[in-house]
Amino acid sequence: MKKVITYGTFDLFHYGHLRLLKRAKSMGDYLIVAVSTDEFNFIKNKKCTYPCFESMEIVKAIKYVDEVIPEDSWEQKIDDIKSNDIDVFVMGNDWEGKFDFLKEHCEVVYLDRTPDISSSGIKSSIINSRGKQD
Ligand code: CTP
Repeated sequence: MKKVITYGTFDLFHYGHLRLLKRAKSMGDYLIVAVSTDEFNFIKNKKCTYPCFESMEIVKAIKYVDEVIPEDSWEQKIDDIKSNDIDVFVMGNDWEGKFDFLKEHCEVVYLDRTPDISSSGIKSSIINSRGKQD
């Protein structure tokens, strides 16, 4: 069985996230998604709308996803790859080259981001439209 892993925050789950997970799953038979915890988002200075518990539940419900694990540190990736027998590590190409050091443990693939959509963009447009209503 070919196992794939990917990492992310997945706040305000959107179409770009869905396409990423669909393509990640198509690279193997079993997809593990590591979703950033609230503590790790704090370390990354990422302000989320949903608590990580909710993002994890949403990601877990996506039909391409077989398992969700927490991501609480930058350093856990090699351990995750080894302990889960991962064959392919997948990330969006906003991370191009950043995880090449994992190539000695598994295949590393960067997928094209879906254009014109992001959690931060959605958040900004909600804030802007609220401002106009007030
Ligand atoms: N992703 C993607 N296409 C997008 C947005 C995200 O393929 N339009 C991918 C990212 O490259 C990453 C995964 O989805 O591999 C999780 O990304 P995340 O950082 O949680 O989502 P963003 O929407 O980019 O969040 P933010 O705006 O907060 O950076």
